[in-house]
Amino acid sequence: MASLVAALLVILMLNGLEPAMSQPYPNYHADFVDIDQAKNEPKWWQTGAFYQIYPRSFKDSNGDGIGDLNGIADRLPYLKELGITATWLSPIFTSPMADFGYDIANFTEIAPIFGSMSDFENLLKIAKQLNIKIILDFVPNHSSDECEWFKRSAARDPEYKDFYVWHPGKMVNGVHQPPSNWVSVFHGSAWQWHEGRKEYYLHQFVKKQPDLNYRNPKVREAMKNVLRFWLAKGVAGFRIDAVPHVFEIAPDAAGQYRDEPRNNGNNDPDDYGYLQHIYTVDQPETINLVYEWRAVLDEFKDGDERILLAETYSPIDIVMQYYGNATAEGAQLPFNFRLISDISNNSNAESYEWTILQWLQHMPKGRTANWVLGNHDQPRVGSRLGTDRIDMLNMLTTTLPGASVTYQGEELGMTNVWISWKDTVDPSACNTNPNVYEHYSRDPERTPFQWSDDIDAGFSNASKTWLPIGPSYKLINLEKERKEPLSHFNIFKQLMQLRKETKTLQVGETEVKAVNRNVLGVKRFRQHDFTYVTLLNIFDGTETVNLKDSFADLTTDMEVVLVTDKSQRKAGDFINSENLQLLPKESLILRSTSTYYTYYSNGEHRQLPIEGVYLLVAQVVLYLSYRRVLTLNSVC
Ligand code: NOJ
Repeated sequence: MASLVAALLVILMLNGLEPAMSQPYPNYHADFVDIDQAKNEPKWWQTGAFYQIYPRSFKDSNGDGIGDLNGIADRLPYLKELGITATWLSPIFTSPMADFGYDIANFTEIAPIFGSMSDFENLLKIAKQLNIKIILDFVPNHSSDECEWFKRSAARDPEYKDFYVWHPGKMVNGVHQPPSNWVSVFHGSAWQWHEGRKEYYLHQFVKKQPDLNYRNPKVREAMKNVLRFWLAKGVAGFRIDAVPHVFEIAPDAAGQYRDEPRNNGNNDPDDYGYLQHIYTVDQPETINLVYEWRAVLDEFKDGDERILLAETYSPIDIVMQYYGNATAEGAQLPFNFRLISDISNNSNAESYEWTILQWLQHMPKGRTANWVLGNHDQPRVGSRLGTDRIDMLNMLTTTLPGASVTYQGEELGMTNVWISWKDTVDPSACNTNPNVYEHYSRDPERTPFQWSDDIDAGFSNASKTWLPIGPSYKLINLEKERKEPLSHFNIFKQLMQLRKETKTLQVGETEVKAVNRNVLGVKRFRQHDFTYVTLLNIFDGTETVNLKDSFADLTTDMEVVLVTDKSQRKAGDFINSENLQLLPKESLILRSTSTYYTYYSNGEHRQLPIEGVYLLVAQVVLYLSYRRVLTLNSVC
């Protein structure tokens, strides 16, 4: 044995190689330094499959045409079947529903339309049995104007007087004018006159969503207590809504708010794009506030770590600060929306490479990446990037390092549903007009989940659902897709399974490359393990590629692990990595036919097929035994 070890060291020295240990962060990847040391495993959320439920549209259990908590509880086994780690629920709290729950009247009460507190506790219980974590939506920026806090604030109750952002405004020719030119995300002035208090209040979203005043310590404490309330009930964490909006600039010495500068090219003063939001978005104080919320989560030391997912579409340097810094922890997963904001129908492999690396290269050491393809505010993936790219994008997000986030229905390939002006309910669209509303409406991605081809797509048995059922439901529904081996659903399920059972995909290193302008490749590799390559032929041409031109240390033969219906190959086939033809929109996951020994040479990451290492060792052993025989012979 000792001679074997000696032999290996000799080989390493002879080859001028450094053992992999000496350079732990050689590539673009989530390096998982904070893995669970006891188990030597990533933490539960680091390779998590997150799934967003929009409760109104998931499953209706009582026939009122609106989804509810018992509906979700009933379908949790479906999430289990899919392989989901955690589900975040859009708001389920008491609300007049001016923004469908994002206008909260009571932060610690369940909206009757969704059920009761005991329904929620039951949901938590079932989720626990199934080992699915429940994550709630935390909406800190604003409450509803029907919230008790707001009513008291409007009435100048000393305890609540400064809970919101109030201002007397300006008096111009005897007429009240808003304090500044600030525009609401949902159209029109962000200031609303309140007849009771005779002052304006700020609302960055609809006027029924007054902004809370985070410069008031009492507000900060009240909202921390909201977190504590739900954490004590056993939720696994929160998705934080509209993070960049939480603080706005403080008034100047004269008590005035400054106007925001204009954006060239937008001439509609009611449109959010009219201004550069330098005083209402991304104020520096917000970062620390997120750290404070994280500290609240860390007060809960029982059981698994609780987590924060932060919603921010801010510039990358700001987003990265939400992870935390040298002295404070922040959100474990600030949402990575780059695949939504930076990728379009026309993006080629180079754009994909740039977009993915942008996140990985900016991400601070030891943090975990995440990949979001859709949510209730964004057009569906199939409508945005093409229905024939749905599977390839799911392949991509599952085989990139870190967590993936899927919006309900994307696993079936549901697409946007056209909603007439008459049926439109989203305030973002209703605040506009019949000519332009489609540009603002989020209703098309919020239609009910398509469970089957039954009445109301199996979502409800109401005569009218809150939003119309998508007309495609006879073709796109879970029941049908269950029966088709290469349906979006079955591919999604296989992907979740593959990541769950593949260490390389969970903790391996990552290289992302445009193999050519049309083909994207992602290589995942790990010492003593199989290498995986995901390939996406993004466009409609047939492409022939030599993967060894782009990626070092691949075996010539590689095994096909996962295919989509764009492929004529099947799992278990072998391909030649030096000469591989990909059909239009074909995407594949390949696996090396050998495991590797990983080492570094001149700062470069290299791999040796493990057979090669064995061969070298065998040669040295032979050589040493031969010398021993010679020595013995000469002694004799
Ligand atoms: C972001 C949410 O995702 C969106 O649906 C909501 O309208 C706004 N924040 C306001 O809460």
